[in-house]
Amino acid sequence: MISLDTSGGSLHRRGYRKESVEAPMIETLAASIIKISGWNGTTELYDPFCGSGTILCEAFLHATNTPPSINKKKFGFEKLPDVNSKLWNEVKEESIKNIKEVKPGLISGSDVSKEAIIAAQINCDEIDKRKSISLRQTNIFDIKELINKTIICNPPFGIRLKRNQDLSDFYKMFGDFLKQKCKGSTAYVYFGDREYIKRIGLRTSMKRPLQNGGLDGRLVKFELY
Ligand SMILES: C[S@@+](CC[C@H](N)C(=O)[O-])C[C@H]1O[C@@H](n2cnc3c(N)ncnc32)[C@H](O)[C@@H]1O
Repeated sequence: MISLDTSGGSLHRRGYRKESVEAPMIETLAASIIKISGWNGTTELYDPFCGSGTILCEAFLHATNTPPSINKKKFGFEKLPDVNSKLWNEVKEESIKNIKEVKPGLISGSDVSKEAIIAAQINCDEIDKRKSISLRQTNIFDIKELINKTIICNPPFGIRLKRNQDLSDFYKMFGDFLKQKCKGSTAYVYFGDREYIKRIGLRTSMKRPLQNGGLDGRLVKFELY
């Protein structure tokens, strides 16, 4: 078998992840979740478990029309003998022209861990030069309310973390938070362990299998009234 490497390195590595946390989400999974959610920038997006900020960064790339590999200097195919460099440069220029700004506060997130927020800030700064993504360190259960938002997140998994702890009570509390404090919002929650979906205690309006690094996860939609 003879293969040609047309990308020159994995394309899921966008180049903005300079700092990581325990159990970060693969960038392309975060991008798929944003796409499946249908979020188009008309509602404010919030990730209350933002970790290293992957969902926020992918939401930003999506909302601003930024090509995901904008920081990638070279692609493997550029070395192919019959590549049309002029056309490639035109395509790049055109896509850069289509980039737009987003208003501050459209995309925001938080995490209980100080280290995670530091990592998220470093990663967001790589692509969001105007600092329009808002970040803060807080426990989700201290958030007063998340009204009329699109909530997209992946809470702690339990499985992949070394402790392998039982998170049943945590997911029950998270469900209560969604029920009581998120009126008018739609939540897309990625479960690494689908056993916890029922602990949320809310009717699901979509369940979709999505793999994350070998984990058979589920993306679940909850409409909150
Ligand atoms: C699976 S990770 C999220 C990873 C993130 N999507 C990324 O790509 O880096 C779950 C995150 O939830 C955070 N977390 C755990 N308990 C929390 C709580 N009570 N409130 C807010 N964040 C919490 C952890 O610090 C961790 O960063």
